[in-house]
Amino acid sequence: MTDAASSATKHPQRVFSGIQPTGNLTLGNYLGAIRNWVPLQEKFDCIYCVVDLHALTVWQEPATLRDATRQVAAALIACGIDADKHILFNQSQNPDHAELAWYFNCVARMGWLNRMTQFKEKAGKNKENASTGLFVYPNLMAADILAYRGTHVPVGEDQKQHLELARDIAIKFNNDWGVEDFFPVLEPLILGEATRVMSLRDGTKKMSKSDPSDMARINLTDDADTIAKKIRKAKTDPENLPTDKDGFKDRPEAQNLVTIYAALTNQTVETALREVGGGQFGAFKQQLADAAVAHLEPITTEMNRLLEDVAEIDRILAKGGERARALSAPILAEVRETVGLVR
Ligand code: AMP
Ligand code: TRP
Repeated sequence: MTDAASSATKHPQRVFSGIQPTGNLTLGNYLGAIRNWVPLQEKFDCIYCVVDLHALTVWQEPATLRDATRQVAAALIACGIDADKHILFNQSQNPDHAELAWYFNCVARMGWLNRMTQFKEKAGKNKENASTGLFVYPNLMAADILAYRGTHVPVGEDQKQHLELARDIAIKFNNDWGVEDFFPVLEPLILGEATRVMSLRDGTKKMSKSDPSDMARINLTDDADTIAKKIRKAKTDPENLPTDKDGFKDRPEAQNLVTIYAALTNQTVETALREVGGGQFGAFKQQLADAAVAHLEPITTEMNRLLEDVAEIDRILAKGGERARALSAPILAEVRETVGLVR
């Protein structure tokens, strides 16, 4: 048995995942993360969190942050997250995350954080000017999960390195204080065909909420015409579509569009290629746009309906926050006792 498997069996299985309320949710967020969160609700107790404290690692306009938090909550409910059976809340409703993150700031090592590629990407050339919050962001992420002794964490490919760090933090905490299995060694769940959806303008770059070009991404708020236009204008190459996966070599845009199509139509890339391989991009793009619209339109409609009643969204988040606090409170009490704090 792996460390994770043996550790997970000593703790009840619990799913935790988070998503930042920054900008519009994209098709990448949807296919890489949210869509996989929904079926997990049948097998696990799940906690899904809109991570507003993480968003603050780069400056946010307060009103925009508030709107985005509600919008992401609405999107999650519209996609099928059940806020009655499971827990949906925004991170700042439970101060235990920030407290546990402090202990983890004292557990994680500078060298570990220095290796994080997301920090390097986000800080860019001007590292000296990045917030210290951005640097310790992965410690807060570990705290999000471990405040509930989360065992399974569904994310897109880009979060794998952060989850390995969270495992290292759990292991070091357990070792440093001699508390075997105090925190579970969590397992990343990187699921589905589209674990890394790429930009529509550049197949070597991740599709991101923060890309300066809106044409690079499909937002969950885009209407059918906008989706079709963005797909029509997506970058391609002059060849026809390949007939097998080997044909994607040096053709990142072709690979990305076919992968998105496969994910949207619930098939593997291989079977999708049997359907569309050898054809021209023009006809394929029409097919892809139809699939994207068919998939996203009901979600957008439901999301907009939910956003008409902001007070109800706030009630759902507050109730989720209360239930989350009840779960983390005894764990945090044990942590304080373990590290030697007087209360
Ligand atoms: P974020 O928007 O950074 O808060 O990401 C929320 C979730 O969406 C995480 O699980 C990410 O791994 C996932 N995600 C974000 N962008 C992409 C993408 N382009 N492809 C696949 N998954 C993604
Ligand atoms: N860092 C994640 C992202 O940008 C969001 C996140 C914060 C998260 N806390 C988490 C994901 C805990 C999984 C578990 O995508």
